[in-house]
Amino acid sequence: MTQMTSSDVPSMGRRQFMNLLTFGSLTGVALGALYPVVNYFIPPSAGGSGGGTSAKDELGNSVTATGWLANHPAGDRSLVQGLKGDPTYLIVEGNDAIGAYGINAICTHLGCVVPWNAGANKFQCPCHGSQYDPTGKVVRGPAPLSLALANVSVENDNVFVSQWTDTDFRTSEKPWWV
Ligand code: FES
Repeated sequence: MTQMTSSDVPSMGRRQFMNLLTFGSLTGVALGALYPVVNYFIPPSAGGSGGGTSAKDELGNSVTATGWLANHPAGDRSLVQGLKGDPTYLIVEGNDAIGAYGINAICTHLGCVVPWNAGANKFQCPCHGSQYDPTGKVVRGPAPLSLALANVSVENDNVFVSQWTDTDFRTSEKPWWV
């Protein structure tokens, strides 16, 4: 039977300590990697099925896709009340589809509601002349930023608006409004 010498004791202690450190840092890395995945699967808590707010028309009635498409032709950009009641443009793509993103109509300069000018194919702010392209990307100041985006989804014919947290596809940058 081998006898443990006193010099082995500190080295075992050190190894266990190192194992603990390695385990600890690996766990930290694993948890760090898992966080966005877990986050992704946690459903948004705001009301409505699938998350988000039910889009409302000017009378406060919930917007349905069939009702909206019956009255709004392809290319149309018209306002609904979206997140927090913000005026938000729904986009009609083709004859039978509401676009997956909506455009918040609040001008990024000083907050006027920006009308859509179909003839000019732009959003034009009446307050100080800022202009935005059909996706809401700023093309003329003084507005410093593009119009905010919102996610739009249709579930059981009901139209929902929710927070857009992905990359802003117009600038390839993080959304400034999150
Ligand atoms: Fe729109 Fe100033 S508020 S340009």
